[in-house]
Amino acid sequence: MPNHINFTLNGENVSYAGARGARLLDVLRGEFGLTGTKCGCLEGECGACSVIVDGKLINSCLTAMGSLEGADVMTIEGYCKTERFAVLDKAFEATSAVQCGYCIPGMVLASECLLSSNPNPTEKEIREGLSGNICRCTGYNAIVNAIDIASANYPSAENAPPAYTNGKSGTHTSISLKDALMLRKNPALIPYGGGTDLMVESAEDVDYLFLNNIAEMKNITEDDKYIRFGASCTVTDILKNPLSPAILKDACAEFAAPAIRNAGTIGGNISNGSPKADTALIFMVTDAKLRLASADSERILPIADFYLGRKKTALAPDELLVEVLVPKSGLDNYYYKKVGARKALSIARVSFAGILDIKDDVIQNCAVAFGAVSDVIIRRADIDKMLIGKTIKEAATLRDAYINAYDEAIVPIRGRVGIEYRKNVCMNLLREFIDEGLLN
Ligand code: FES
Ligand code: FES
Repeated sequence: MPNHINFTLNGENVSYAGARGARLLDVLRGEFGLTGTKCGCLEGECGACSVIVDGKLINSCLTAMGSLEGADVMTIEGYCKTERFAVLDKAFEATSAVQCGYCIPGMVLASECLLSSNPNPTEKEIREGLSGNICRCTGYNAIVNAIDIASANYPSAENAPPAYTNGKSGTHTSISLKDALMLRKNPALIPYGGGTDLMVESAEDVDYLFLNNIAEMKNITEDDKYIRFGASCTVTDILKNPLSPAILKDACAEFAAPAIRNAGTIGGNISNGSPKADTALIFMVTDAKLRLASADSERILPIADFYLGRKKTALAPDELLVEVLVPKSGLDNYYYKKVGARKALSIARVSFAGILDIKDDVIQNCAVAFGAVSDVIIRRADIDKMLIGKTIKEAATLRDAYINAYDEAIVPIRGRVGIEYRKNVCMNLLREFIDEGLLN
C-alpha cells in the first residue's frame, strides 16, 4: 500500500502523508486549512462535516484518509467558486435561511447533491435529501424553501466551471481482492468497509485494511438462483440497482440519511454483528448465504450460522466476507417495519421483517426475523416450519399457536428502550404480518 494518499481536493491534486486512520474532517481543517467543514457530533448524526466525495455526500468525520486514494473530494471552499453555489447562496439569503451559519456548509453541499441527482425535488424529497443535516437555530422551513427556489434556476452540471468536479476527477486505485486476502493474514489490520461504524470509535493509529474500492467486492450480479451482492456495495448502490429485491430496497430506504447510505457497506453492516443492523435483518429473513474467503480457501455459510452471540461472528481471523447471495424467488410477499425515534438515525428500537410465499393456496415459505431485540437478530426457522406446507385455511387454525410460540421464544434484552416495550412491539408486528398474510 502506498505511503502517501494521493487524491483530488477541490480540483487540485494533493498528497497526504499522515496516519491512514485519521479522519478526513481533521485533515481538511488541520492540514489543508479548509475550516468551512465543521465539526459537530463526530458520529454521523449532524451533517456539519459533510463534503462531497466522488460526487456523493459523505460525513468527513466518519471517513478515514486511507479510504481516499484516488478519490475526488470537494469541500464548501471548492463548491463556493461555482455558479451553482451562487444560485443556492442567493436563495438562502432570500428566505433568511441562515442564522449562526454553523450547519450551512453541510446544508449547502447536501442541497448540491440533491439537486444534481434530482433537479426538481418535491418538498418531501428535499426534506429527505437534508435528513442527515441538523440545524439548531434557523429551523428547516426556510432552508427547504431556499432549495425549492434554487431548483428553478439551478445551472446544469455540464455548464459548470472547472472548480466544480463532482466526482469527475477522481481515479480510484485499489488493491485486488487477492492482495486484500493476503493482507488479511495480518491480524492487526482491521477490515474497513465504509467506516460509518468503525470511525465513531476511531483512533488515528488503528491500521485498517481498506475494502471500500476493491472492484471484485462492488459488483451486483445474478445467476440462476441468486442475486449476488459484493460485500463492499454501499446502501446507495443497492437502492439504485434494479436487481435488488424490493424488501431489501425498503430496508435500505430506511437506513439512516443519504451521507451514511453513500458510505455504509453491507459487508460492514453484516460483519459488525449488531442485532440492529438493517440490511442484516433482511439477509436473515431471506436466508441469504455468505461467501467467506481467506487467502487459501473459501466457503459458503448460511447467514443464520454466521452470528454466534453479541458482536460475535463465525468469521475466521484470516477471512473476509466477500459476497452475499440472496435467493431470487419467493420474496415478493413481504412485510417490513422499522421502529425508531428519528428516521435519519440509523438505530432501530425494534425492526421486523416477514416473508409469506404462497402458491396455489399453499404456504411455500414463511420466515420472520426480529432486529434490535436480543443479542442477535432473532430468526426461528423451527417455529416458522409450523406453517410451511399448509393451506391458508389450515394455517389460519394454527395462527394462535404460531404467535404463542414466538411469545415464548422472544426474550428481549434491556437497551435504549424497555423490555416490555420491545416485546409488545414485536408481538404487534408479528400479529399484523400474519393477519395481513392469512386473513386478507
Ligand atoms: Fe456530525 Fe460529522 S460531525 S456528522
Ligand atoms: Fe445555526 Fe443552522 S443556522 S445551526
